[in-house]
Amino acid sequence: MKLWKGRFQKEADSRTNDFNSSISVDSRMVNEDIEGSIAHAAMLGKCGIIEKTESEKICRELAGIREDIDSGALAIDPDAEDIHTFIEGELTARLGDAGKRLHTARSRNDQVALDVRLTLRKECEELKTGLLTLIRTLCEKAETHSGTVMPGYTHLQRAQPITFGHHLMAYCEMFLRDLSRLKDALKRMDVMPLGSGALAGTTYPLDREYTARLLGFREISHNSLDGVADRDFCAEIAFFASMTMVHLSRLCEELVLWCSWEYKFIELSDAFSTGSSIMPQKKNPDLAELIRGKSGRVFGDLMGLLTMMKGLPLAYNKDMQEDKEAVFDAVDTIKLCLTPLIPMLETMTVLEQNMRNAAAKGFINATDCADYLVSQKGLPFRDAYKATGELVAVCIEKGLTLETLPLEDYRGVCREFDEGVYEAISLEKCVNDRKVAGGPAPENVKREVGRVRKLLEAWEER
Ligand code: ARG
Repeated sequence: MKLWKGRFQKEADSRTNDFNSSISVDSRMVNEDIEGSIAHAAMLGKCGIIEKTESEKICRELAGIREDIDSGALAIDPDAEDIHTFIEGELTARLGDAGKRLHTARSRNDQVALDVRLTLRKECEELKTGLLTLIRTLCEKAETHSGTVMPGYTHLQRAQPITFGHHLMAYCEMFLRDLSRLKDALKRMDVMPLGSGALAGTTYPLDREYTARLLGFREISHNSLDGVADRDFCAEIAFFASMTMVHLSRLCEELVLWCSWEYKFIELSDAFSTGSSIMPQKKNPDLAELIRGKSGRVFGDLMGLLTMMKGLPLAYNKDMQEDKEAVFDAVDTIKLCLTPLIPMLETMTVLEQNMRNAAAKGFINATDCADYLVSQKGLPFRDAYKATGELVAVCIEKGLTLETLPLEDYRGVCREFDEGVYEAISLEKCVNDRKVAGGPAPENVKREVGRVRKLLEAWEER
C-alpha cells in the first residue's frame, strides 16, 4: 500500500518499487524507528495534539509490534518501501484510525534523520567498547615486552633500537585519538531533528524539547531545512572509521611483515592463520591482510557519502537514502575487523631473540657511538658523526659489527676511543638511556601503560 495513494491514478510499476525501496538497508533501524515513534506519539498526547488515550494506545501498540518482531511473530515485509512505512502500516492495521494519527506533524524526512542518529548512537557505543578492548590488549602485550629490544625503522631500514612495548604503545596513541574523534562526532550528532517536518517545520504546537528529553538528546535542531538535510554526522563517523582503518591497516601490515621469514619477529597462532591449498609449508596471515584490504571499502564509504551530499540543494533529496548503506558499512567493517584482530594479538608469540638479533645487526647503535664521542670525549656532534660513519665503512669491509670491531680499528679512525665504547653501544644501554619523555626506555613503557590504563578507565565510566 502506498502512502500517497490519493494523488496517484496508477499503481507504481514493480521496477519503480524495487529501485526506490530502502527496506533491505533500513530495516536494521526498526527498534530506533519504533523508539522515535513512541516519543513522538507521547509528545503529541502531552501537547493535546492527539487525544491522550489515543497517544497511549499508539505507544502501547508500538511496543507490542517491537515485541512481535523480536519474538519472530511478526516478520518485516521485504516489499515495504522502507521501515517507516512498514511500522506505520502495521500500526494502522492493528489500531485503525488511532494508527493513522501517529504521523501528525511528522514527515519521513525528519523521521529518517532521527532514526539514523539513534542507530549510529547505539553502533558507536559498540565501536567504543571494541576500541577500548583493542587498546587494553595492546597495553597487556606492551607491558610484557617493555624491555624487549627490537630495531626501530625509518624507510624500512634499521635505524635505532627501541622496545617492542614502545612500538605497540604507538598504536595505542592512534586508537586513543580515534576514540576522541568518535566522541567529537557523537557530540555534534546529538541533536534531535523531529519537528523539522518535511522541510518547513509544522503549524502544530509541538514540544520538541520534550521529545528530545524522552530520546536522550542534548538539544534540538534549530533550522528545519538543516534538520532534514544534514548528514554531516554520517560523514564524520565515516571519517572516524576511515582513520581507524588506516591505523588498523598499518598495524596489520606490520604483523604481516613480522611473521614473514625475512623478519620472524612474531608467530601468529594457528587458530588465527590459514594454510595454502598447494604449498604445504605455508602459514599465512590472511586475517591481517584482509583487515588491511578492508580499509579500501571504508574509504569508499566516506568518499561515497561526501560525493552523494556535494551539490545537493536544500532540503531533503532522495539521494540521501544512500547515506545508510555507506555509514552502516563503515561501522560494520570496523566491528568485523576488531573481532578476530583482538584475539590474534592476544595469542601471538613474540620471538624476542629474533628481534634482538635483528637489532644487533645493521649498525643500529651508530648514533649512540657518535653520542659517546660527544658526551664522553667532548667532540662536536658533526665530527663524531663523521668518525662513526667511517667506522661503519670499516665494519662493512671486514664483515664485522660495531660490537665486534677491535678497539685498534676504533682508534685507527679516532684516537679518542677507549674500552668504554663497548659499554656505550650495548643495546641495553642504548634502549635504557632513551628515557626522555615519550622515549622507548622500558621504564617509560611501563609508565605509559599505566597512564593509558587510567585513560581507559575514564573512557569506560563515560
Ligand atoms: N527511505 C527514505 C530515506 O532513507 C526515507 C525518507 C523518504 N522521504 C521521502 N521524501 N521520500 O531517506
